[in-house]
Amino acid sequence: MLQTEGKKETNAEEGLEAAGRRVAALLGGRNIVLVGMMGAGKTSVGRRLAATLNLPFLDADHEIETAANLSVPEIFEQYGEAYFRDGEKKVIRRLLQSGPAVLATGGGAFEDEETRAAITERGISVWLKADLDVLYERVRRKANRPLLNRPDPKAFLRELLARREPTYGLADVTVRSREAPHQALVADIVAAVEERLTAGEGR
Ligand code: S3P
Repeated sequence: MLQTEGKKETNAEEGLEAAGRRVAALLGGRNIVLVGMMGAGKTSVGRRLAATLNLPFLDADHEIETAANLSVPEIFEQYGEAYFRDGEKKVIRRLLQSGPAVLATGGGAFEDEETRAAITERGISVWLKADLDVLYERVRRKANRPLLNRPDPKAFLRELLARREPTYGLADVTVRSREAPHQALVADIVAAVEERLTAGEGR
């Protein structure tokens, strides 16, 4: 019984590796761009996805921090959100040029029309869609999200989610981010992206 299960797992891993190779080949120079709310798992899942596809992993927030030599909360505090958004736009535009890669964007990036257009031109967008409770559980322990520094962060997150969902829905592919091992989400993303790239709609 145990042996059978072990074998099943190996088959699943091999299947994912093979699917990863197919997707990487289909991508050409395009990027896989993860979009969605804070707490959806873009960075942690993105890192594993990149390893599976044997592609570099890029994190927009991290690159903004490096360029500014400040953390995201410090940028918000010292220069304000508009300044952050401007930097975010420029950094994503630059990162998209270096494809193929897996790029995790900050939760607000896809709201910007020009950024969306740049992502569409240079990649396949994947919305990691998660419910409010899942998101809130993941973000509430960390103090690194300046937008949540307010009296009722959950209510704010609820409003933000409702406001942003229609835009996230414009992504090429939607994958549910649930309480599951990261590898399961990676498999879902690889399958959804492969389907998209082979369905005659691959750009
Ligand atoms: C933001 C999300 C954050 C970060 C900034 C603003 C947002 O990124 O870019 O705090 O507007 O939703 P994560 O989605 O990686 O947490």
